[in-house]
Amino acid sequence: MKTSQLKQKKVWDLPIRLIHWSLVILIAVLWWTAENDQMDNHRLAGYGVLALIVFRLYWGFAGSNTARFSHFIKSPRAAWQYGQGLFKPEQSNKIGHNPLGGYSVVLLLSLLITQVALGLFAIDVDGWEAGPLNHYISFEAGRLCATWHEYTFNMLLAWIVLHVAVVMYYLLVRKQNLIKAMVTGRISSLYIGEYQGAHFIHIIIALGLALLTLWWFI
Ligand code: HEM
Ligand code: HEM
Repeated sequence: MKTSQLKQKKVWDLPIRLIHWSLVILIAVLWWTAENDQMDNHRLAGYGVLALIVFRLYWGFAGSNTARFSHFIKSPRAAWQYGQGLFKPEQSNKIGHNPLGGYSVVLLLSLLITQVALGLFAIDVDGWEAGPLNHYISFEAGRLCATWHEYTFNMLLAWIVLHVAVVMYYLLVRKQNLIKAMVTGRISSLYIGEYQGAHFIHIIIALGLALLTLWWFI
């Protein structure tokens, strides 16, 4: 029987899925607006990413169990052991990010935070366009932030390509559709472990923090 025909169980909550696909859209918008000199929209989309990150960081401590950092940040040894079984189809699967993927998630989030932080302080070469915190630093320091804003973007792109390649490997070789799970929030019941949702109050707090971030910058 195909895994898609088996009973499904919950793996990702709605905020995780909304944050993920919003990030995909916003990164495309950020690239396009930077290329086409639409800096007002670039900054707006940048604040959007910042708000999503603020939500995600809070959710990493108070969200559903699969969203929590403690659920997927394992020891390097666990990641190494998982990596060794990556090409063995019989490797058992638990719900949530695997120990190797956990490190990839941390790197993706760290690159996004760095990218946004550099953007907030960056200034373009003729001083026309700048992030809202640029006036706290010198022009030269702002230019350095802009240069690194570009470097970090290239690193982010490289890691996103690898990220999508791994997801495609799971889909095509291991026949595990992680993309569908990121859309529907559900995965084959053959996966081990039980999903535990977050308390409703935490959604309110996380939303409050994200909206406060938007209000602060817009
Ligand atoms: C701008 C591009 C992207 C970024 C920044 C990004 C970032 C992320 C992050 C941060 C996570 C961890 C989710 C969390 O715990 O919050 C994740 C997971 C995931 N992403 Fe992406 N992603 C991108 C593009 C894509 C694309 C294009 C696909 C589909 C082809 C995809 C498929 C997935 C899947 C399936 C997972 C869950 C992996 C698992 O089961 O452990 N991502 N992504
Ligand atoms: C994940 C979030 C972001 C991404 C992916 C992103 C991406 C980019 C890219 C690709 C460029 C063009 C770099 C180049 O080739 O020169 C750029 C430029 C710029 N970005 Fe962002 N950006 C983000 C967030 C922000 C934020 C939050 C701000 C400020 C509010 C910002 C302000 C700027 C400025 C001022 C420039 C012009 C720098 C120059 O011309 O040297 N960015 N960004």
